[in-house]
Amino acid sequence: MQTIIDGMTVGYTDQGKGTALVFIHAFPLSKTMWQPQVEALKNTYRVITIDLGGHGESDLVPWNDSLDGYAKNVIRLLDHLEIPQAMFVGLSMGGYTLFSIYRHYSDRVKAMVFADTRAQADTEEGKVGRQAMAEVAFKDGASAIADMMLPKLLAPSTIEHHPEQVEQVRQMILETPTAGIVVDLVAMASRPDSTDLLSTITCPTLVIVGEEDQATPVAESQYMAQRIPRSTFVTIPQAGHLSNFEQPAAFNQAVHSFLEKCLL
Ligand code: MLT
Repeated sequence: MQTIIDGMTVGYTDQGKGTALVFIHAFPLSKTMWQPQVEALKNTYRVITIDLGGHGESDLVPWNDSLDGYAKNVIRLLDHLEIPQAMFVGLSMGGYTLFSIYRHYSDRVKAMVFADTRAQADTEEGKVGRQAMAEVAFKDGASAIADMMLPKLLAPSTIEHHPEQVEQVRQMILETPTAGIVVDLVAMASRPDSTDLLSTITCPTLVIVGEEDQATPVAESQYMAQRIPRSTFVTIPQAGHLSNFEQPAAFNQAVHSFLEKCLL
């Protein structure tokens, strides 16, 4: 589904009824990564997925090169759908975006799920790595980025035993325009540190991570969960960074049982 917001095309899905549950995707993917969650949860919630600018079916907004810009993409879509408050799930870059949403629009947030993400900003070394990756994207395109990212996104066991999942993730990366990849890298490199925000979070929060996540290891999630008041912490066995995609049943169960309690 697509709509025009502020003169730009925005791709999204909106299925089901009830409390709105909004999914924000990782780098360098699209709303398609949430397919297993949409199917499992749309009978219980109003499930919304969005393509951030320059991904999937959404127009690239080249001057919108910060995660605050992505946070605004999400909030403007909720305005368009007349949803005053929602529960949010953000994975990795989607989690960084969720920090930005909480920082600027906390009144719109009913509950949060931070999946396979971290609160810290990039280190200097990390920023240099982002620039190197942006150069690869310009020079060699999305397929070179797919080769670099697949071993970071998926657990070794997924790569070995589930070639179909590897192919699906590769396709998602190949569908992301190079300019979208570069804008993501600039936005992630310039994101602020959100560590100070953790202890100020007052809404129900779940922190979830794949046990084999190499991009944002379990310790990063533990760190977040220890600092967010009354948070819940869940690890997903046999999953890497894309825990929602690699182990959808365990991921959906963790999200659903957390949200059920939030809505009591
Ligand atoms: C992601 O999955 O969104 C990325 O791995 C995040 C990052 O590179 O920091």
